Amino acid sequence: MLTKSKPSWSISENLITPESAFKNRRAILKTIGISSILTTISPNVVGSAVASTGGLNPNLFSAKRNLKYELDRPLNTEKDVTTYNNFYEFGSHKLISKDAQKLQTKPWTVTIDGMVEKPIIIDAHTLISKMQLEERLYRFRCVEAWSMALPWTGFPMRDLVKFSRPLKKAKYVVMETFMNSAIAKGQKQFWYPWPYREGLTIGEATNELALIGVGAYGKPLPKQMGAPLRLVVPWKYGFKSIKSIVRFSFTDKRPVSFWETVQSEEYGFWANVNPKVPHARWSQETERVLGGGGKRIKTLIYNGYEEQVAGLYRNLKGESLYY
Ligand code: MTE
Repeated sequence: MLTKSKPSWSISENLITPESAFKNRRAILKTIGISSILTTISPNVVGSAVASTGGLNPNLFSAKRNLKYELDRPLNTEKDVTTYNNFYEFGSHKLISKDAQKLQTKPWTVTIDGMVEKPIIIDAHTLISKMQLEERLYRFRCVEAWSMALPWTGFPMRDLVKFSRPLKKAKYVVMETFMNSAIAKGQKQFWYPWPYREGLTIGEATNELALIGVGAYGKPLPKQMGAPLRLVVPWKYGFKSIKSIVRFSFTDKRPVSFWETVQSEEYGFWANVNPKVPHARWSQETERVLGGGGKRIKTLIYNGYEEQVAGLYRNLKGESLYY
């Protein structure tokens, strides 16, 4: 169990990484072959591989599984996970996977700004190629009381925070999804506060579990799941895991997220999974497993990740931590 007593937003010294360390890491990636793969095979082969993976080198996605994260349940099939999605930009129902293909994910620019040493504007694929990818098997729990388990490919959000070089006074990181109502028809629904926005404390963003997902099932992330990069915070309800991110902003003010703006009594900032705290519309005691023929299983506190995250919240008295 963690016995962290520091506030969850405080930035630890070792997060401020000197640029030289990143340059070093790039050099390591080069040595292990990420760039040499591109130069040793014929241009035609590279051309077709790039076309089928949205411009990314497919070898980046055969990332090694991190065996620390075990599951207590079977994995869902790729079909379960890629055909039942919440992505309100493409409609307020689950069958958006076809419409989401309209999203153009290359080029994709990511802005890192706010309380950082220097704002960064970077192509998403360049950003991803600077990071050490790994595979993790995680549970995922939606506040609507359905759940799944899947293999993500991604990199620790902690590495993104380091890369961003936040100032000491930054306490939160706010993330935003793209805006383009010409292809994302849901964004024409003016009663929603677009763009989709979410936030974490720095302590949460640098917790070992927080992942920036760039793939699933050993492949680049499908568009309906939030390509080219999304958040994965498995101890929180699914709405915190914002998709198709274009911006990371560091701030000292707690952000108000998309769903909190819509209905603050039902969707709060923390949204940690707790079977004992019902949502206004869904009991959280059990969950329906996707593809499980209606089977329900008991929901676990922090979705089973209590050991890794409970310490983040121990000193937060008077906060609504569970919706
Ligand atoms: N991110 C954006 N940009 N738009 C959304 O509508 N829905 C959230 C979250 N991230 C959403 C989003 C909700 S409510 C859930 S449950 C998860 O994405 C669903 O992720 P999945 O479709 O990959 O299962």
